[in-house]
Amino acid sequence: METATLLILCLLVAALFLFKNNASSPLWNIQGPKPSSFILGHLRELLQRPAGLAEFEWQRIYGDVVRIRTSFGSEQLVVSDPKALQHILCSGYKWRRSPVRREMGRLTSGKGLAWADGETHVRHRRLMTPGFRATETQKFLPIFVACAEAMSSEWKKIISKSGDQSCVFDLTDHLSHATLDAIGLAAFDYDFGSISNHENELAKAYEGLTAKAFRAPSNMGLLMLDLFRLIPSTVMEFMNDHNPRLETLHHVAHVGKGVAKQLIAQKVDEIEQGTPDTDIYTSLVQSNLSESFKSRLSDEELVAQMRTLLFGGHETTTNSICWWAAYELARNPELQDQLRTEIKSTERKIADRGEFEFTLNDYEEMPLLNAICKETLRFHPIVLHLFRTANEDDVIPLSKPIVGKTGQLITEIPVPKGTRIVGSCSAYNRNLTIFGEDAHEFNPNRWLEPGRVKTEDNLGFPYANLATFAAGVRSCIGWRFAVAELQTFIVVLLRNFAIRDTPELTRIRRESALTMVPAIEGELDEEV
Ligand code: HEM
Ligand SMILES: *[C@@H]1O[C@H](CO)[C@@H](O)[C@H](O)[C@H]1NC(C)=O
Ligand SMILES: *[C@@H]1O[C@H](CO)[C@@H](O)[C@H](O)[C@H]1NC(C)=O
Repeated sequence: METATLLILCLLVAALFLFKNNASSPLWNIQGPKPSSFILGHLRELLQRPAGLAEFEWQRIYGDVVRIRTSFGSEQLVVSDPKALQHILCSGYKWRRSPVRREMGRLTSGKGLAWADGETHVRHRRLMTPGFRATETQKFLPIFVACAEAMSSEWKKIISKSGDQSCVFDLTDHLSHATLDAIGLAAFDYDFGSISNHENELAKAYEGLTAKAFRAPSNMGLLMLDLFRLIPSTVMEFMNDHNPRLETLHHVAHVGKGVAKQLIAQKVDEIEQGTPDTDIYTSLVQSNLSESFKSRLSDEELVAQMRTLLFGGHETTTNSICWWAAYELARNPELQDQLRTEIKSTERKIADRGEFEFTLNDYEEMPLLNAICKETLRFHPIVLHLFRTANEDDVIPLSKPIVGKTGQLITEIPVPKGTRIVGSCSAYNRNLTIFGEDAHEFNPNRWLEPGRVKTEDNLGFPYANLATFAAGVRSCIGWRFAVAELQTFIVVLLRNFAIRDTPELTRIRRESALTMVPAIEGELDEEV
């Protein structure tokens, strides 16, 4: 009851405040669609429709910078212009991750890397980066193989009991356990054992977390999400920590903290006994013991870092593997066979040198594997939006001028501090000039023909000139980890199985639950 009154009060104040502020806008000349609702602006188009659709339409009609409305007529720019995106993402901390998105980071993972900002973020990032270099990634390959093989053996057991040597699997569930075990072993040298034990508490808490916690956000949910920015962060934190509707997230936090504390104690023990492991987490605890006081992580931060890696490195890869294997390869048996042929010939090459396991270098020398990997990540970017707020006045440069409302060409956009943008990963990834005229089709061949994808202007995106892993100081720290894991899982799956589609596949939609989740049409519950 009290919360409800508080909310209504907040809404009224916000409406007045925003109305006054929006009267004279510095962005007035930028074109964009008319909002269908004053209260919600374009929030429903942006966040409720099947992922990406609205942005593709706006990009086609208005170009790569579009002015849209959020609640009560506030403005936001949707940006897919390559140069503009690069500028915004790669100018240090000039543009900050939006406070509401940071709060979502706090709710899912605590005050770790995904929450930290400015100086704190620099400190966190510096301590975390060494765990994710190419050499470390190579060390993780055997872990990925072991987890993918363990999942495959489970499947084989089930299939052997079926009459016709085939079986329908819910890939998301199985993969979710396998990738959880993989991140556990790689980052913490800890075996969650969730592939074989489906009752594992942590694994259960994290199963489909994004879809469970955020679902298809309701109108009220969207409104709150948008207005949270007007509330001081301490108040916002208090409200969320006491909101019974966020029970799923509170539960995950509780379970995660318990496991993290246990892990920290174990790592400290091993370090003291002189037998430390070589996982990412040990190096964090270790640096805490050796680094100067100022660069250390507090215990709360160490706990949050573990939860950050679990959350950031688990559902993202699960869903990407699903799009790749269960969707694109299942629908295209011919492509699947071609890839299997490439895998077989690489196996022979590896056997010739007296080995059995693939190295990163072997993956690199597999053109089709890389082509499908890039195309999957281009076409199905799991993180759809990058929310940023200008921390100072700035001028956004453009690759291509846009036409203003007055008909005049705009070549750069001066924006005041506080301007909010949504970097659209999905729209950028469909850029016709960079990726070709058929950018709206899934076609791995584009990566096989030299010169077809224009990657010469290095825009600072870490992988294949795609916006999928963002760029700059807040780019995805785990992109190498993710690519290696995706490739390993696909190789192991194709070595063991033929993947075929089921009738449900035609009803799969790219649902937006703040990130993009594959869901069967109508089966992702609306928030109540
Ligand atoms: C296909 C899989 C993945 C995709 C598409 C992806 C995408 C992204 C994107 C777009 C961001 C920036 C978000 C923003 O600034 O709003 C991000 C950040 C992050 N990712 Fe990933 N990611 C993936 C896998 C992983 C993995 C495997 C890990 C860890 C093992 C990871 C850990 C993180 C962390 C910790 C951040 C926050 C970085 C910071 O704020 O400094 N991600 N990811
Ligand atoms: C890490 O350092 C902080 C600050 O000195 C300290 O409070 C904390 O107990 C340390 N944690 C571990 C696990 O060593
Ligand atoms: C794509 O990128 C180029 C620059 O590389 C830019 O000129 C163009 O406006 C972008 N947009 C589309 C829709 O192709």
